[in-house]
Amino acid sequence: MTPPTFLCLASYYKGDRFLQRAKHEGCAVYLLTVEKLLGEPWPRESIDDVFAVPSFADRAGLVRAVAYLMRTRKFDRIVALDDFDVETAAHLREYFGIVGHGESAARLFRDKLAMRTAARGLGVRIPDFTGLGHHADITAFLDRVPGPWLVKPRGDASAAGIVKCATRDEVWRRVHALGDAQSYHLVEQMVPGDLYHVDSLVENGRVVFAEVNAYWRPLLDVYQGGGVYATRTLDRASPDVAKLRAVNERVLTGFGLGCGASHTEFMKAHADGEFYFIETSCRVGGAETATMVEAATGVNLWSEWARLEVCRTAGGYRLPALKQRYAGVVISLANCERPDTSGFTDPEIVHRLDLPSHIGFVVAADSQQRVEHLLTEYTDRIHRQFAAVMPALETVAD
Ligand SMILES: Nc1ncnc2c1ncn2[C@@H]1O[C@H](COP(=O)(O)OP(=O)(O)O)[C@@H](O)[C@H]1O
Ligand SMILES: [Mg+2]
Repeated sequence: MTPPTFLCLASYYKGDRFLQRAKHEGCAVYLLTVEKLLGEPWPRESIDDVFAVPSFADRAGLVRAVAYLMRTRKFDRIVALDDFDVETAAHLREYFGIVGHGESAARLFRDKLAMRTAARGLGVRIPDFTGLGHHADITAFLDRVPGPWLVKPRGDASAAGIVKCATRDEVWRRVHALGDAQSYHLVEQMVPGDLYHVDSLVENGRVVFAEVNAYWRPLLDVYQGGGVYATRTLDRASPDVAKLRAVNERVLTGFGLGCGASHTEFMKAHADGEFYFIETSCRVGGAETATMVEAATGVNLWSEWARLEVCRTAGGYRLPALKQRYAGVVISLANCERPDTSGFTDPEIVHRLDLPSHIGFVVAADSQQRVEHLLTEYTDRIHRQFAAVMPALETVAD
């Protein structure tokens, strides 16, 4: 069978390993990006041609551009490399009749209100919520559900725009302040706890790989409170790993991911010790998640996703043999453009972040305790020596 031809959409620079693997599999690989990203170091040796439009916001213009390209190239796959391209890719697939999620299917992986409704339908435990549509529903929600509450955008990322409200008045003030943007938001009960992420691969509707990781601190605290971001492989012997794998599988099979990669988050509530679904996606997690997962398991999520897309119609996918190591990531904004990391010399460092004004490492070891020890030391050292005061991590955000 001829390998499929890929059109990859990217409004953010990422996904090198996907492009490289698709090319390695013998596919023709085309990249469609935005003009301002043309200068990024895309792996051009793995790309047959790069096209750019001023912005993906102009849907009609994009349809015409892709239709023009399709006069002479037959795209078999349209893939969104970035989370913000998921709806665009779904629109194009549906319009051109290409295999993969159409718009309704993709919505479950992008729209937090749709995810919550779907999770509730599957009987997956979630923080109680309502959309900011019909005002009587908001009143009923605030009568029913104790605060504090979070008002959050349905489609943003990196905790951008999430507002914590302690009183009903605060919720209503936020609702009114949103004006015509109300319907782009939802309100839900805040469930304080520990945050986990499960990074998965799905083949033919089945979860074939699911790596369970625990954030150091909940991301809302990191993004809005400032400080060091960290996450690491959860001890595989922990009963929580089995629980998280099970609920992750319920979400991904129930939502119909079908084929591809996913990054899904759950909160373990301090109040009752239960896991609550927070969000899912049909993408590879950001902030060096793929580097960490590869260091722990040998599986590169981007690369395997590309292979899954190749096998989507023909079958024949095989997951590589897994390693059972442990890994962690630590990242922080730095107080200078190029922080000197030469003082970090542990042999467990497998990757140093190369991003202006940031400092970060991926570490890997045979034992979970060693990773835990290194992260404890590094988060503290980075906080004391390098951390910038600016409370944001948007460039690497997850
Ligand atoms: N219901 C909730 N209760 C407590 N914390 C939450 C809740 N929802 C989100 N958070 C916090 O806010 C962060 C961002 O929320 P999330 O829904 O994952 O959106 P984003 O797309 O911005 O990551 C989470 O990582 C978590 O720390
Ligand atoms: Mg999140």
